[in-house]
Amino acid sequence: MALSCRKLLWQYTNVTLHIFRRSYSTSRDSVKRLLEGRLETTRNEIKVQGWVRSLRSHKGITFVDVNDGSCLQNIQVTLQPESIPSDLTYGSSVEIEGTLVPSTHKGQRVEVKAEKVQVIGPCNHEEYPFKVKTRHSLDYIRQYSHLRCRTNVFGALLRVRNAATMAIHSYFQDNDFVLINTPIITSNDCEGAGELFQVEPTNKVQSTEIEPNNDSNNASENFFGKPAYLTVSGQLHLEVMASALSKVYTFGPTFRAENSQTRRHLAEFYMVEAEIAFTQGLEDIMQVMEGCVKRAAQRTLDKCSEDVELFFKYIAPNQRKILNVILQKPFVRLSYTDAIQILQKKKGKFKFPTEWGCDLQSEHENYLVQHCGDTPVFVTDYPACIKPFYARENQDDPATVAAVDLLVPGVGELFGGSLREERLDILQEKLQKFGLKEEYDWYLDLRRHGSVSHGGFGMGFERFLQCILGIDNIKDTIPFPRFPHSCQL
Ligand code: 4AD
Ligand code: MG
Repeated sequence: MALSCRKLLWQYTNVTLHIFRRSYSTSRDSVKRLLEGRLETTRNEIKVQGWVRSLRSHKGITFVDVNDGSCLQNIQVTLQPESIPSDLTYGSSVEIEGTLVPSTHKGQRVEVKAEKVQVIGPCNHEEYPFKVKTRHSLDYIRQYSHLRCRTNVFGALLRVRNAATMAIHSYFQDNDFVLINTPIITSNDCEGAGELFQVEPTNKVQSTEIEPNNDSNNASENFFGKPAYLTVSGQLHLEVMASALSKVYTFGPTFRAENSQTRRHLAEFYMVEAEIAFTQGLEDIMQVMEGCVKRAAQRTLDKCSEDVELFFKYIAPNQRKILNVILQKPFVRLSYTDAIQILQKKKGKFKFPTEWGCDLQSEHENYLVQHCGDTPVFVTDYPACIKPFYARENQDDPATVAAVDLLVPGVGELFGGSLREERLDILQEKLQKFGLKEEYDWYLDLRRHGSVSHGGFGMGFERFLQCILGIDNIKDTIPFPRFPHSCQL
């Protein structure tokens, strides 16, 4: 009995020591939490790990700014000359233990009085592409896709991107949409534009590896038994799901083999898509588009104000004004036919034609946005001949379909959407015309069994970030941009 009591006491002491040690020296405090005064311990002894952003000496004391990516701001650390390691330089990674004390530095309440400084990874700052206290251009930092996350501006972008992702999910979750993971590999070309990346293994599958009696054994050389591609849109899969769950959405990588080297095209981008059943008209989906932009943009600003502010200050000085219009004013509604008339009335020619039936080019989109007061504009009811097979034919004007694009300042097209043709006979006829009737028999099944009016849209997530932050080049909104002739890392 006495022995087990002693054992218990020993164990208790050990556990207490362990907890004390953990809370004192092994738990790391993020810079964000330190600056907010939210410590991992109740004591003022703290440990911070991060990268040195600047280093300066003044009256026998050295000031080091450390950033760990948890927020835009650095924490200031003060060091006595004798505790400065020789390899402590700009760009090195460090671990600092010390005490959190009130700061005399303007703009921050606290700073760290260092007791122990350890360089974890030195940095050859002569070869390091970013220079201390220098504001490099986005074009310059883009050349270093493996290092640009260490710059203030790209760190801010990544935190905004994270907050915007969560804000978009919140919008759909709060409005009872069900998240569907639509496939990345698919056998359909939803948009019918032929901008597909085909998927095949690098090593051909040996026929012995295929189970006997498997239909695909002799049928085809293709891995999946038929050609398969990286998805250009999850829409058709969402239509399947909306026909049972009513309101669904997806948010995932999307691929387009477009040979476009523009400031708003990527070969791999993220798309937010939603599909809604029992719609009464195009207005039903336009309201969701508008709600999604406004709510997600506002939430992102609230969550990441400091990071967003950096873009307003250094990248796009006019952006706050533009964003206020987006957030506060109702979006303009304009039919394609009216849009064409506006374009035709413009003095001075556009590079591309503006006849009824022509697709709107980015110069047209920008002009329409400007013409309507630098505010987002829904363009509706496009000619059937320039929209995909699934768009619903307008009853009062069969030459047009109930399709809608949302054009926004600085970007142009942000969303594409439509009501879907739910009437079996009309859809059958259309698919026949496109030579797709056999391939899309499953799609016709949705119309054969309990068909309902429905519609949806897709929003390019990187274009959304361009739109709220005023970023000119889409390649600066995604961690690792992919575009023709470039697939770094
Ligand atoms: O207009 P899109 O092609 O529409 C569709 O794919 C529909 N099936 C979506 C749906 O209804 N569920 O693409 C939707 C949006 C565009 O408005 C644009 O913002 C973005 O996706 N997008 C691109 N973003 C970056 N790079 C590209 N290459 C893009 N292509 C389209
Ligand atoms: Mg489109």
